[in-house]
Amino acid sequence: MAVLPIRIYPDPVLRQQCRPVEDFDPALRALAEDMVETMHAAPGVGLAAPQVGVAIRLAVVDVSVGKEPDSLHVLINPRIVDRAGEQVDVEACLSIPELSDKVKRPRRVRVEALDLDGKPYELEAEALFARVLCHELDHLDGILFFDHLRGLRKERARRHLKRLRRAWEERQPMPAGV
Ligand code: NI
Repeated sequence: MAVLPIRIYPDPVLRQQCRPVEDFDPALRALAEDMVETMHAAPGVGLAAPQVGVAIRLAVVDVSVGKEPDSLHVLINPRIVDRAGEQVDVEACLSIPELSDKVKRPRRVRVEALDLDGKPYELEAEALFARVLCHELDHLDGILFFDHLRGLRKERARRHLKRLRRAWEERQPMPAGV
């Protein structure tokens, strides 16, 4: 197992529409294990594959951050099949340092997903767990939490994102021949 580098906004992989997983092979299991280790090390409550540079529909969630083994979920090709109610709370993202804001999410969700053996299962979630599932599933469609902000909150996020973009561009290697 290994802690993987986390891709930071505006890395283009974060905006990709991720492709469904088709091969339930040892490489997929190894990636999921590395993602769990990376999430716990961060520490974070969820991590999606594009955040470690792999544009596939895989996410890991653990609202206990490693304290309760039952809280750890590996979701492959997940989709929300039912949602109810509403909640507003502060969200942040490991790929967007130093930005957090209130986001409206459903209070409860039901999610269908596959496990590492390709076997379907269902999850019922509410409160923080539901929020984290929505956030991670958004990542698989290239959606980031600030996309849900409006008005002044959106403006504030935009200023911060500009700074992140500048820092990211400074870290990129010069194009060949320059
Ligand atoms: Ni995130």
